[in-house]
Amino acid sequence: MSCQTNKESSCSLTDKGCKTSNSTENLAEYWCGKYTDVDYKTLGWYEEEATPSIDLILETNVAKNAVIFNVGAGSTTLIDSLLEKGYTNLIANDISSCALKNIKKRIGEEQQKVEFIVDDLVNPTLLNDIQKVDVWNDRAVLHFFTDKKDQDTYFDLLHQKVKKNGYVILSEFNLDGATMCSGLPVKRYDETMLQNKLGNDYKLLKSFNHDYTMPNGEVRKYVYTLFQRVN
Ligand SMILES: C[S@@+](CC[C@H](N)C(=O)[O-])C[C@H]1O[C@@H](n2cnc3c(N)ncnc32)[C@H](O)[C@@H]1O
Repeated sequence: MSCQTNKESSCSLTDKGCKTSNSTENLAEYWCGKYTDVDYKTLGWYEEEATPSIDLILETNVAKNAVIFNVGAGSTTLIDSLLEKGYTNLIANDISSCALKNIKKRIGEEQQKVEFIVDDLVNPTLLNDIQKVDVWNDRAVLHFFTDKKDQDTYFDLLHQKVKKNGYVILSEFNLDGATMCSGLPVKRYDETMLQNKLGNDYKLLKSFNHDYTMPNGEVRKYVYTLFQRVN
């Protein structure tokens, strides 16, 4: 399964035979299917090395025991890389436990340095109770929230959880990016749109476009942004 531009070769949430409601349970099942139908290393967003994200986290210069929160972490190798670099206080969230299982399997005993939280970012329960974080990192998650209500819930959680002087990294499809991913429509962004979503309490430190080459060789266009909370 891959992120495709305007069509999808497998079922989407609105197709017959697929779930038609975006409830947490149905979304969790939907995403679990993505991670179990194929080898996750062939998924359209899989990175051998999460290079732009790790570079931005290193640029923040946060301490090794800083709380780094990966939202919608999926099966990302970013967690492995952060552990290798000595970070000891990681939180990995996803709506799909199937996705997070792949990380747990890879990192083995290092799991003690990672809190895994299966929860829905746009209908949070467990996430409401997490500690405040030094870094909020999102790659290819926010762009799935096409309803304003879901976006508002996402940013409410972010405002509640990011410490003053903490950092926010949002990496989403850019305005030339795909309009669908994994059978779902996406909202594309540029740095100004993300700044508007975050508001004046966040200062843009860096942004750049990045062409990501999928495992099947196709290219997906992202915008990477690094903000710091100033108020
Ligand atoms: C395109 S994947 C990106 C995964 C990972 N961030 C990466 O870069 O490899 C999107 C991820 O968001 C997760 N996701 C989708 N909707 C979510 C929600 N409402 N709450 C939490 N996670 C969600 C999916 O399960 C999936 O793992």
